Amino acid sequence: MLTVDVSKATPFLSASYEDERALSEAADWLQNGGGKGDDFIGWVHLPENYDRDEFARIERAAKRIQGDSEALVVIGIGGSYLGARGVIECLGSPNYNLKKKDTPNVYFVGNGLSSAATREIYDLVKDADFSVNVISKSGTTTEPAVAFRFFKALLEEKYGKDGAAKRIYATTDRARGALKSLADAEGYETFVVPDDVGGRYSVLTAVGLLPIAVAGVDIRALMAGAAETMARCRGKGFDNPAWQYAAVRGALYRAGKKVELLACFEPSFRFMAEWWKQLYGESEGKDGRGIFPASVDFTADLHSMGQYIQQGERMLMETVVRFDPDDDQMVVPHDARDGDGLNFLAGKTLHEINTQAMDGTLLAHVEGGVPNLIVRAGKRDARGLGALIYFFEYACGLSGYLLGVNPFDQPGVEAYKKNMFALLGKPGYEARGAELRAKLGR
Ligand code: PA5
Repeated sequence: MLTVDVSKATPFLSASYEDERALSEAADWLQNGGGKGDDFIGWVHLPENYDRDEFARIERAAKRIQGDSEALVVIGIGGSYLGARGVIECLGSPNYNLKKKDTPNVYFVGNGLSSAATREIYDLVKDADFSVNVISKSGTTTEPAVAFRFFKALLEEKYGKDGAAKRIYATTDRARGALKSLADAEGYETFVVPDDVGGRYSVLTAVGLLPIAVAGVDIRALMAGAAETMARCRGKGFDNPAWQYAAVRGALYRAGKKVELLACFEPSFRFMAEWWKQLYGESEGKDGRGIFPASVDFTADLHSMGQYIQQGERMLMETVVRFDPDDDQMVVPHDARDGDGLNFLAGKTLHEINTQAMDGTLLAHVEGGVPNLIVRAGKRDARGLGALIYFFEYACGLSGYLLGVNPFDQPGVEAYKKNMFALLGKPGYEARGAELRAKLGR
C-alpha cells in the first residue's frame, strides 16, 4: 500500500503544515466542483466511473494490434504520450523494444519536430507490419498532426487506403477537432478523451490505456490500483497520503524550497518522472507561482547532479519514489582473488545494496539542507503504478488549489504556438508574423 513519509522534511518547517481548513476546501472542490477549472475534474472519479464499453473496445483493439502488427507507432505530445511511455518503460523497461517478447514494439513520435527523430522511426517501421495510434485531445496540435501525415501516407502506401484505415486508431475529442473529422471521414476506429479530463490527467483513459495494453500491461490491474488509491484519497485528514504530500511540499515552497526533484533509484522510472513533471509543471506553474519540477535518476545522477544537490543553492526539496524489491534479484558473486576488494558485498542482492544507497543518500541530502519526502509505492507492477498515478494526480489537484491557481488550464502553452504559426505563415497570423520577423531582424 502506498505511503508517504514526511519525517525527513517536516524538521525544515518552523510552523505546522497541517492547514486542515485549506485542504478540506481543496478536497471538496476536487470531489464536488466549485473550484477553479472544475469542468476538468472528470479524472477524480474515473477509476470507478470509466466507460466499460470503451474499455472493452480498447482491450479488443489491443489484441487486434498484437495479432496483426510487429510495431505500434504512438503519435502524440505532452499529456497525449508521456503517461503511456512512463508506464510502458517502468513496467516493461526502457529497453522494451529490444526485448524478446510476444507483443509489438511501441515507438513514440510526434512529440517534437525533429526530422532525424521522425525519420528514425519511419525507417524502423517501414518494412514491418505496423499500426498507428494517433492521440490528440484537441485534434489540432501541430507536432502530432505533422507526424501523422508521414505515417498515414506510409500505411496507405503499404496497405492501400482501406487497409491503412483498419490500422489507424484515433484517440481524440468525442465530437470536435480536425482529427475527429478526419477519423470519421476515413473510417478509423476512434477512442474518446472525455471532455472533463485534461491531457496531463488522461493516462487512465484511452489516451494511455490503448498503447499500454498493446505493450502487454494488465490495464485492469492498473485501474484497480488507481481505484484503491482513489478510495483512500477521497477521505479527509492527514492520514490521507495525498494530503500529506500536498501540504508538506506546499509548506516547503513557502519556506523557500522552490525546486522539487523527483528521484528514483530505478532507471525504468525515468519517463514516469517526465509524466510527473508535466503534471505538476503545467498544473502549478502560472500566475508567477509554482514549484519548479525537476527529476533525477539515481544512483547515476549522484555522479552528475549529486554535488549540486549536496552543496548548491538551498532551494531544493526532494521527493523519492521507492519500490519494493523485484522478485528476480541479482546477487553479487564471490570472487576468489577479491582484486576489487568487493567480497564484503558477495551474497548481497542488488536491492540490498541499492537500499543502503537510498538511505545513505537520504541522510546526506537531509544533512546538506534538502528536505526529503519519501513515497513508498509498493511493488513495481501494474497495480502499484495505477495507485501511484492516481496519488500524484490527486495530490497535484490539491496542491494547485492550495497554491491558489487553476490546476487544470495551461494558458502559457499557447504563447510559443502563436509565434510558431506566425513565423510559419499560417493564414490569419500575418500581422504577428511581420512583428516577430522584425524582432528577429529578418
Ligand atoms: O496537458 C495538456 O493538456 C497538454 O500538455 C496536452 O496534453 C498537449 O498539449 C497535447 O495536446 P493535444 O492532446 O490536444 O494534442
